[in-house]
Amino acid sequence: MSAAVAPAHSHTSRLAEGEKYYLRFDDDAKLRLAQQNRVTRELMGGSFLSDKVVSHLQAIKDSGRRPRICDIGTGPGDWMFDIQTQLQSLDIQPILHGYDLFPIHFPPKEEQESKDVYFYELNIHDKSTFPELAEKYDVVHIRYLSIVIVGHQWEGAFENCLGLLEPGGVMMWEEILFDEFEMSDRFEYPYAAKIFDMGVAMFVRHGLLLNCSPKLTPLFKTNFQKSAQTKFSTTNLDEDWQRLQAKNMYMVTREMLMKKLEGGEEAARELGFGSMNEAIKTADLSMEDYRKGCLTNMTICQWVGEGFEG
Ligand SMILES: C[S@@+](CC[C@H](N)C(=O)[O-])C[C@H]1O[C@@H](n2cnc3c(N)ncnc32)[C@H](O)[C@@H]1O
Repeated sequence: MSAAVAPAHSHTSRLAEGEKYYLRFDDDAKLRLAQQNRVTRELMGGSFLSDKVVSHLQAIKDSGRRPRICDIGTGPGDWMFDIQTQLQSLDIQPILHGYDLFPIHFPPKEEQESKDVYFYELNIHDKSTFPELAEKYDVVHIRYLSIVIVGHQWEGAFENCLGLLEPGGVMMWEEILFDEFEMSDRFEYPYAAKIFDMGVAMFVRHGLLLNCSPKLTPLFKTNFQKSAQTKFSTTNLDEDWQRLQAKNMYMVTREMLMKKLEGGEEAARELGFGSMNEAIKTADLSMEDYRKGCLTNMTICQWVGEGFEG
């Protein structure tokens, strides 16, 4: 059973500035997140947990209690289900809690209970939505939230998440370095390049900073005795994985486009297209570019802060 977690209040349906989300919540989005999870795992060498973190969790288990782990901005919880499988193979049964602003991502209650993974609503920017915990978490994980954290919000979001961490625990945070994204031959694949540039322009227009790394590095350095950052790039992966990454890139930019086009013809013109039809046609042609072999390489950075004795 899950330990009781009661958010201070439930999120209201009207979204404030800074709580907007530029992606969708449909089955394609779920598939994309699941694919992104697989690519990320491969990128990180096949496991989301380092040997050191696994040993730390093993020591907690050996002391007679279940390690407590949470994932902020969890979506459908792919990361949690992944590490649950890994830890169960080592006979470690962690308590797993996922938090997200949009419960539409969450599996139904019965599935949460049968899988022993529980989901709760929370806004990373709003401390009052964070749970009051009798016992905090041994591991706090955050991944791919930079599309919802603008420049001045990093510190507050970091502090809110840090407040969930047990003294001596470990915090892990991964973000895509958007300014290190690379696209293979832009001239050979003009439609993919156009949709890619549109995605980047949308990030910029919404004030989502392209390079988040300087924001997290000092926060980890100041708040942990020991912290490290590691970069991983898809350029080192086999071609099949690079193709999956490219497909994902296509899906995410198309998702952003379609979401924006919910605003009609005016939204299409704002994006620099003559009409909605032209925008949709360009997106379809960009898919062809990806099919023909266009690749987009992604670099991610992981920050780890450890409060335990290594
Ligand atoms: C790109 S997805 C990443 C999902 C998951 N972390 C992963 O790596 O598979 C971003 C997630 O952030 C969630 N989100 C958006 N705004 C949020 C906020 N203000 N507080 C918490 N979660 C938020 C979205 O609902 C979505 O699930």
